[in-house]
Amino acid sequence: MAKTYDYLFKLLLIGDSGVGKTCLLFRFSEDSFNTTFISTIGIDFKIRTIELDGKRVKLQIWDTAGQERFRTITTAYYRGAMGIMLVYDISNEKSFENIKNWIRNIEEHASSDVEKMILGNKCDMTDRRQVSKDRGEKLAIDYGVKFLETSAKSSLNVEETDNNAGGSGKPVKITEKKSKRIKFFKCSLL
Ligand code: GTP
Ligand code: MG
Repeated sequence: MAKTYDYLFKLLLIGDSGVGKTCLLFRFSEDSFNTTFISTIGIDFKIRTIELDGKRVKLQIWDTAGQERFRTITTAYYRGAMGIMLVYDISNEKSFENIKNWIRNIEEHASSDVEKMILGNKCDMTDRRQVSKDRGEKLAIDYGVKFLETSAKSSLNVEETDNNAGGSGKPVKITEKKSKRIKFFKCSLL
């Protein structure tokens, strides 16, 4: 049977409970958002194939539970990950401080060449912000990893831009949000 993808990437989402890991994955895979908080039990995953520079990239994204009681199960998945996204909530100082503990966890359990990226989620919550973007950027620089502020909720900055996408040769309209979503995962891959 013909292979349906050119590359396979295994990515992992980690971070404190409630920072929005599941919502980020839901936004990426279904392009929707839910305000109800259903804390992840153990581990879950989604698969999605995207086009990147004409290649079919299959993403296998593992979503871990942030709750301490699942730590043994979740850390078992670190080893197989090629990229790990460390998520904190910009309206929750503690979740930001804990990033260094999550990094330590990675150092203990993941392979040494794993790609890391820090995500400051819930950046739509401007009036409840506790962690400035500068602090997020600085932390990422200290660890030598990439950084992005994200919002699983917001559809802010969604503007239509013309883009040459797909193989039809015709210009296809894609929204900035869509290209951002792809960029977000591309960033963590490359
Ligand atoms: P665990 O599964 O317990 O580790 O938590 P989690 O990190 O998966 O959190 P989850 O994605 O379930 O989101 C927790 C809560 O935050 C939910 O009520 C979401 O609606 C809310 N939330 C997630 N992302 C955002 C965001 O970008 N903006 C806002 N305003 N709320 C968000
Ligand atoms: Mg979750």
